[in-house]
Amino acid sequence: IEKLQMLYEGKAKKVYKTSHEDQYIVEYKDDATAFNGEKKGTITNKGIVNNQMTALIFSILKEQGIDNHYIETLSDREMLVKAVKILPVEVILRNAAAGSIAKRLGLEEGKIFKTPVLEFCYKNDALGDPMINEDHVMVLELATEEEIKAIKVLTIKINDVLKKFFIEKNLKLIDFKLEFGLYKGQVILADEISPDTCRLWDVHTNEKLDKDRFRRDLGNVEESYQEVLSRLKG
Ligand code: C5P
Repeated sequence: IEKLQMLYEGKAKKVYKTSHEDQYIVEYKDDATAFNGEKKGTITNKGIVNNQMTALIFSILKEQGIDNHYIETLSDREMLVKAVKILPVEVILRNAAAGSIAKRLGLEEGKIFKTPVLEFCYKNDALGDPMINEDHVMVLELATEEEIKAIKVLTIKINDVLKKFFIEKNLKLIDFKLEFGLYKGQVILADEISPDTCRLWDVHTNEKLDKDRFRRDLGNVEESYQEVLSRLKG
């Protein structure tokens, strides 16, 4: 397969066309941003960790019947994916309070929710990805009612699979962000699942092993990304 022109460059990844019109190549970068791009930096080898972790998790999800864009790994930073059209909705699932919900609702970080909390954000950098509800999704025509229904069902299933998988690796899945896309008329999981997009805490110590180490200047950022990957592979 041939890598052709770059289609899109995001904060953490580049997407390329390929000689196959139904397939793209995603390249993972070490660039890190937080707080809507206000804080910038690099996390050495983050791109390699996120590429491997996404490949591993998307393969497990596939085995569990959850279709996604991952096809195969091409190099340490590149994967071949289905050419999906990303829906401009970020889906956040929270099993416990942390980050923006803790701040917004005055909750103690780590408080476990009785049932998962689902949130939607409008994927729009200029607006800072504002939180929206399903009515907003409809009036902005970001997705259809059927697509949103499918996204909700898939997100709950993904949470069930991931929570079980992570806990076996002594990691608590606090929350995560997903993106979905359309491929041949179907809604499928796309983007990545990595320490950039999940909050993962050590099950015994509650040590944060995710991007919060970068956001909050907690130190050992690279080491934490490597630790997550080695636990998942172990
Ligand atoms: O910041 P907040 O608490 O809303 O983040 C919830 C979850 O979504 C976290 O796991 C965070 O890493 C992820 N997230 C993301 N990309 C964004 C916003 C949040 O991956 N643009």
